[in-house]
Amino acid sequence: MKVGFVAAALACGLASAGPSLASEASKPSVTPHQTVVSDKAIKARVEALLVQMTPEEKAGQLFIAFHLSPPPKLEPFVEKGIAEGRIGNVLFVSDPAHANALQRVALEQSRLKIPLMFGFDVIHGLRTIFPVPIGLAASWDPKMVEDVQASAAGEARAVGIQWSFAPNVDIARDPRWGRMVEGAGEDPYLGSVMAAAQVRGFQGPAMGTPNRIIAGVKHFAAYGAALGGRDYDEVNVSDSELWNVYLPPFKAAIDAGAYNVMSAYMPLNGVPATANSWLLTDVLRDTWRFKGFVVSDAGAVGNLVTHGLATDRADAAVKALNAGVTMEMDNNINVFSELPKALAQGAISQVQLDDAVRKVLETKVRLGLFENPYADVRKAAEAIADPERRRLARVAAERSAVLLRNEGAVLPLDRKTLRSVAVIGPLADSARDTEGPWVFKPQADGVTILAGLREKLGPTVRIDHVVGVGMPRRLNGSFIDPEPKAVTPPIDDTAGIAQAVAAARNADVAILVLGEKREMIGENASRASLDLPGKQQDLLEAVVATGKPVVLVLMSGRPLDLKSANPAAILEAWYPGSEGGRAVANLLMGDTVPGGKLPFSWPRNVGQVPLVYSRLSSHAPYQASLRYWDQRGAPVWPFGFGLSYTRFDYEAPSVERTTIAKGERVGVSVTVRNVGTRVGDETVQLYVHQRSGAARPVRELKGFRRVTLQPGETKVVRFELGPDELSYWSSEARAFVQDASAFDVWLGGDSTASARSRFAVVDAAQDGGKPVAP
Ligand code: NOJ
Repeated sequence: MKVGFVAAALACGLASAGPSLASEASKPSVTPHQTVVSDKAIKARVEALLVQMTPEEKAGQLFIAFHLSPPPKLEPFVEKGIAEGRIGNVLFVSDPAHANALQRVALEQSRLKIPLMFGFDVIHGLRTIFPVPIGLAASWDPKMVEDVQASAAGEARAVGIQWSFAPNVDIARDPRWGRMVEGAGEDPYLGSVMAAAQVRGFQGPAMGTPNRIIAGVKHFAAYGAALGGRDYDEVNVSDSELWNVYLPPFKAAIDAGAYNVMSAYMPLNGVPATANSWLLTDVLRDTWRFKGFVVSDAGAVGNLVTHGLATDRADAAVKALNAGVTMEMDNNINVFSELPKALAQGAISQVQLDDAVRKVLETKVRLGLFENPYADVRKAAEAIADPERRRLARVAAERSAVLLRNEGAVLPLDRKTLRSVAVIGPLADSARDTEGPWVFKPQADGVTILAGLREKLGPTVRIDHVVGVGMPRRLNGSFIDPEPKAVTPPIDDTAGIAQAVAAARNADVAILVLGEKREMIGENASRASLDLPGKQQDLLEAVVATGKPVVLVLMSGRPLDLKSANPAAILEAWYPGSEGGRAVANLLMGDTVPGGKLPFSWPRNVGQVPLVYSRLSSHAPYQASLRYWDQRGAPVWPFGFGLSYTRFDYEAPSVERTTIAKGERVGVSVTVRNVGTRVGDETVQLYVHQRSGAARPVRELKGFRRVTLQPGETKVVRFELGPDELSYWSSEARAFVQDASAFDVWLGGDSTASARSRFAVVDAAQDGGKPVAP
């Protein structure tokens, strides 16, 4: 039987599509939409401006135009547009002098002197580059992730950016999709925790918090489910998948206060997301009570014509505004400039136009832009040079890395006996690739893995560096991230592999740094294969065949198919950022112990995708790992998996009550012990399974905590489960419901955890909530 309260709550916007995050992360001390300026004062200011504005000036506030730094030299289109009030916002400016030059045009030449707002893709840092978001998620450390984005926000704000087009909270279940690197992986619970943490980091406890920027949640919604993993392709997901998998991270981000949402490019179930009023109005505004503004993805309004939905640009502008888009993002095509005409023709109403403009003006007031429109160039330089940011970047890279294999405890390397190392691979000394995608300007001071090892090991350890093999070029050019003319110096792969083998034979240990170049991942960088690109597999196998201990460091934003290659150790370092080399050197030498865990199931090969741990039982569940005739069903490594240099043991979990009534909460705890000889981190994970009442996933993550344990130390980790964790979207009821059912609960170090307990949810409390002996 379904309960009515959740259905009713959804209708009035109270039901949570996402999990309760209270146990995972610190709660803001003020409500997310509280602002440093009083609501009344904001309103008065906005209305005073609004009455003075022409329809053209209103449309200008609803447009964000491209203008890529470096040039403080202004482009006529942008400069003229700003001066005439036709451009109210600019993206891609990352230089304070450039931002100030454009701002001066708005404040000195435009009629109403409304300051510009600057947006940018601050995905994992601006000048100080942190690990890519999939790596941050692998830390399972929301507090650290919050700190990282707060730090990135501080740097961005100092250079004149007030708004990040991040976090990307798209659930990604198909690793062919290149943008998996920008999100938190396959799971809606982990995704929701990471979404909320990033929003708190970017924005702080309230809009207008000093040194913070607006969090722009994207891409609304379900962009990660693109057919075949092909970027921008259509998305067709069931109602159940949408509400239970793809929407929860958006809801969590909005509950955390995210003030901006970006509409996605692709059609969702047949309707382009940028003209999808069900998404942008019914769900976002009416159900979730979103108060901020919606921006289209770049060019997505104009593309409504390409989709075939709109007849021309004017129609596209009307359809997007009508659906709930507030602001159009585009290059030099301003589709929203059609809005004044549409207003005159009655295709949109004055109220609609004014409401959209109010949202933008209100945002600018809340940001304090009218008082402080300019970047302080001196402070920007100080912010960029702040060593604390670099420290955080190193710690984040260390905490993100996932140790996937460590046969014979080859890691950590023994400093006392180590005399020589062969560092091999096309990514070992590539600063650009160590930073990863979404870094606009190459940063001069990034530390590669080779450089990090050199610095760590000093002159007494001989390091031979061999690139080994080249990297392939993409089949067709990319408009997103054009490859440099020479990707790597042209290389004779056969000679390079022979050279690498010789270097490995001549060394105590071979460290291979392989994976995907930054251009092979991110937007417009989906792949049809999960193989190591180029001849890297041959290189890996040839070096392993030397019999020397081989440590494989992977740089990737997705799982890769390593086939039968069998290096002794594998460390997934992601794209670790500015301090990546130092972080990896610390991890390999044991100065830091790896503690990251996979935010996705690692498939055996591309034919297995999409592969998730939270599948439904369906027919013949005992055959789940044999569903293919020619392939096992289980992943290489399960969701949540990651090794340490120490080991952890779990006792049987204990539930505090065997039976709870719907709406009540139950405590679940487990004792975890460090049974090894080194200090280390374990991420204790809690999974549940609802046994009856609906076809629910075999397991679902509903809690986790990363803890540090000294050798021999024991900790009791306690979680609470309540209606948020035990409810789900029922397509039948068209609401979130909680069923009466028995629940299994597992606690352990990954999604295959075997320590199990049980409790039941009933219609009314039956046992008075008696505690159960552990
Ligand atoms: C298109 C991408 O889809 C979006 O994520 C990004 O924020 C904009 N371009 C601006 O760079």
